Amino acid sequence: MRVIAPELLRWYDRHARVLPWRSPPGVAAPDAYRIWLSEVMLQQTTVAAVKPYYERFLARWPTVEALAAADDTELMAAWAGLGYYSRARNLLACARAIVTEHGGRFPGSAAELKTLPGVGDYTAAAIAAIAFDEPAAVVDGNVERVVARLFALDTKAAVRVKAAELTPAERPGDHAQAMMDLGATICTPKKPACAICPVRSDCRAFELGAQEAYPVKPAKAARPHRRGYAFWAEAEEHVLLVTRPAKGLLGGMRGLPSGGWNDAPSLDEAPFAADWRVLDAPVRHVFTHFSLDLSVACARVPRLNAAGEWWPIERLGEAGLPTVFDKAARLALRERMTETCLAC
Ligand code: ADE
Repeated sequence: MRVIAPELLRWYDRHARVLPWRSPPGVAAPDAYRIWLSEVMLQQTTVAAVKPYYERFLARWPTVEALAAADDTELMAAWAGLGYYSRARNLLACARAIVTEHGGRFPGSAAELKTLPGVGDYTAAAIAAIAFDEPAAVVDGNVERVVARLFALDTKAAVRVKAAELTPAERPGDHAQAMMDLGATICTPKKPACAICPVRSDCRAFELGAQEAYPVKPAKAARPHRRGYAFWAEAEEHVLLVTRPAKGLLGGMRGLPSGGWNDAPSLDEAPFAADWRVLDAPVRHVFTHFSLDLSVACARVPRLNAAGEWWPIERLGEAGLPTVFDKAARLALRERMTETCLAC
């Protein structure tokens, strides 16, 4: 137990991944704003997916004050494609709380950080450890796997206890990121590369030859399946977009008009009566709690008064559509190109 943390730090000193939100091992961390922004983006999202978003956000909103003053719609559009959109709404709420209630400075302890919007146990511990050197135990999916294997643990509660015991008083932020890197690059879910693991000789699961048996996964509830329509209403090279209600799935994001998603969707959910034509194959999208077959209904209409914005089709990339509507729009656009080809 005593040797694991030093071994890990020695390994991290040589093998730390170079990531845009990170200082090299042993070097003081960037400011808490950057750590916070990266950790919120990295919740439930891969490092590869986050990198370009992180760079773009930092260029557009370089400080927490700048972010607090951001336009809500612009921010939601900038987040489009990253998913789990409540994170973006909380990001804004948190930036505004930092500016109005904390004088523009992030509080320096995990306990205080946890009072901020969108900052739970994991994110608070990560910011406290990385930005403020608090020896807080940081347990994300990678760390959970590493610790469960090291000690052959079969409950999350036991993993938390051991993760806290493992956390050193010195360099807790580097320790946390060393665990993450070990989990991401060596102690992987399938076929871990134990031959090159710096803590293999301390690993109980390795000793037992049972690496892939940990962490023990609880049986997953089946994901329900739903169906729905998205409406592609086109007028004079513009398409009708709506901003979704602030509360609920994809809240505050732009999207195509769409009805409720359930077992029995209907064309009656269209934003107005028109000659709707339903494209053959629906778009399939998987959300956390359900999967969706979204049929795309298209109509060419006069540019009438309708709730929403008539958005220029050639600038659709700037609308910040979340992935499910982006897929639907691509399908409609593909169909449109085929139509144009057939017409000429
Ligand atoms: N995943 C979440 N936070 C991370 C970090 N700081 N470095 C690498 N991967 C991470």
